[in-house]
Amino acid sequence: MSNPLHIEVCQKVDSLLSVEDLSKAVLDELKNSSSFDLNETILGKDCTHDILKDHIDSISFYRNNNELTAFQTIHANSNDEDIRLHVYRLHEDEPATETIHDNDNNSDELPVATHWVLPSSDFKGLWESLYYDSDLKENLLSFIETTILFADCNVDPNIISWNRVILLHGPPGTGKTSLCKALAQKLAIRFSDRYSHFALVEINSHSLFSKWFSESGKLVMKMFAEIKQLLENRDALVCILIDEVESLAHARKSSTSGTEPSDSIRVVNALLTQLDQIKRYPNVLILTTSNVTEAIDLAFVDRADIKQFIGHPSEIAIYKIYHSCIKELIKARIIEVEAVHEISHLKINGHEENSTTRHMSLKLLELSRESVGLSGRALRKIPFLAHGLYLRTKTSTLSQFLRAMHFAVTKHKEDALERHY
Ligand SMILES: Nc1ncnc2c1ncn2[C@@H]1O[C@H](COP(=O)(O)OP(=O)(O)OP(=O)(O)O)[C@@H](O)[C@H]1O
Ligand SMILES: [Mg+2]
Repeated sequence: MSNPLHIEVCQKVDSLLSVEDLSKAVLDELKNSSSFDLNETILGKDCTHDILKDHIDSISFYRNNNELTAFQTIHANSNDEDIRLHVYRLHEDEPATETIHDNDNNSDELPVATHWVLPSSDFKGLWESLYYDSDLKENLLSFIETTILFADCNVDPNIISWNRVILLHGPPGTGKTSLCKALAQKLAIRFSDRYSHFALVEINSHSLFSKWFSESGKLVMKMFAEIKQLLENRDALVCILIDEVESLAHARKSSTSGTEPSDSIRVVNALLTQLDQIKRYPNVLILTTSNVTEAIDLAFVDRADIKQFIGHPSEIAIYKIYHSCIKELIKARIIEVEAVHEISHLKINGHEENSTTRHMSLKLLELSRESVGLSGRALRKIPFLAHGLYLRTKTSTLSQFLRAMHFAVTKHKEDALERHY
C-alpha cells in the first residue's frame, strides 16, 4: 500500500500568488534543502526562497505511521516519493452564532449553533495537539476519505451501505470534541482541490434542550434550511457536529414521560427528522460525541458507520502531551533550556547513551507512567498546577519542574479519590 507524503502549505491571508506558482516554489525549496524530518514545521520566514518568505506562513509534513518514520529523513527530490501538496489559507473571521433567548433569565442568550468557514484560524494546530495511540486520527481521516470517494464515484448506497455518521464516545476530557473539529479542519486542508467551500456547524443540543423555549422549533427549522442551502452547492463540504448527542435522547425520554411540555418532543423529533434528511446529501458529514457508555437510544447514532471509543491516554501518549507542554514552557522561558528526547527516540535508542538528556527523558517517562488514568484535559492542567502550587520562582530547571509536576499529579489523584466520598 502506498503511503503518500502529505505536504501542507499554509499561505498568508493576504497573499495573491496562484497555487501553481506557490507549489512550484515549495517543491523547489524542498529539492534544494538536503533533507528534513517528519513532524517538523518549517516557518515561511526561515525559507531560503524570497517568494516563500513573502507568501507563506508554514510548511508541514505528514505521513501515516509517523511513529516508525519519525527519524527517517525525507528526500523530496527522490523520485520514489508519492508527494501530495495541499495549499490552503486560514479564514480569520469570527464564527457566526445562533442564539436563543432565555425569557426567565432576561439577559441570558444561549448559543445553540456556531458556524465556521474552514480552514479557520480558530483550529490552527489543533490536529497536531491531540495525541493518541496507534493511528486513531489517521484511520478516522482515511475512513472519511473513503466516504468522499464513494460519493464522488456515485456508488449506490443501496448496494454498499454507508451513512456519513461518526460517533466518538468515551469518558470526559479525552478530546472527542476537539478531535471532531480537528478532523473537519483537516478535511478542509486535504480536500482543497476537490471542494471550494468548507463549513463546520456545531449544534449545541445541550443548550437547545436544557430547557423548553418557545422559539426552539422555529430555530431548528431555520438552522436546517440554511444548512440545506449550503449543501445544494456540491462544491461545498459541510460537517455537522452534534456534541453530547445523548442529551437528545434524554430530552426525548423526559418529554414522553410527561415531565416536559409535549411541544418539546416535537422539537427533538424535528431535529432527528432533519438529520435523517440531511444524511442523504453526498457532501455532508455528521460528527457526534457522547460520554455515556450505555447505548444511546437514537436510530441515527445506532447506525453510525464508525463508533470509535476514545479513552484516556496511555503512557506513550501522556509522554507526548507532557513533552509538548515542556517545550512550550521552555519557549516561554519558564523552564530553563534543556533537551528532552522524543518518545520514539527514547524507545529506539534504549541503552545507547548516558547523557543528561536521557536522564531527564527517563524521568519524564516515569512521570508519564504515574499519570496513567488522567484524562487529556487533566494532563494539560498539570504543568499549570505544578507551577502555581509547588514552584515559587519564575524560572526553574527542568528537574525542579518535573518534581513539581510529580507533586501536582499526586495531589490530583488524591483530590479525585476524595470526590468519590
Ligand atoms: N489525547 C489528547 N491529547 C492531547 N490533548 C488532549 C487529549 N485529550 C484531551 N486533550 C485536551 O483536553 C481538552 C479537552 O478536550 P475536549 O473538550 O475535546 O474533550 P471531550 O472528550 O470533548 O470532553 P467532554 O466529554 O467533557 O466534552 C482539550 O483542550 C484537549 O487539548
Ligand atoms: Mg466534548
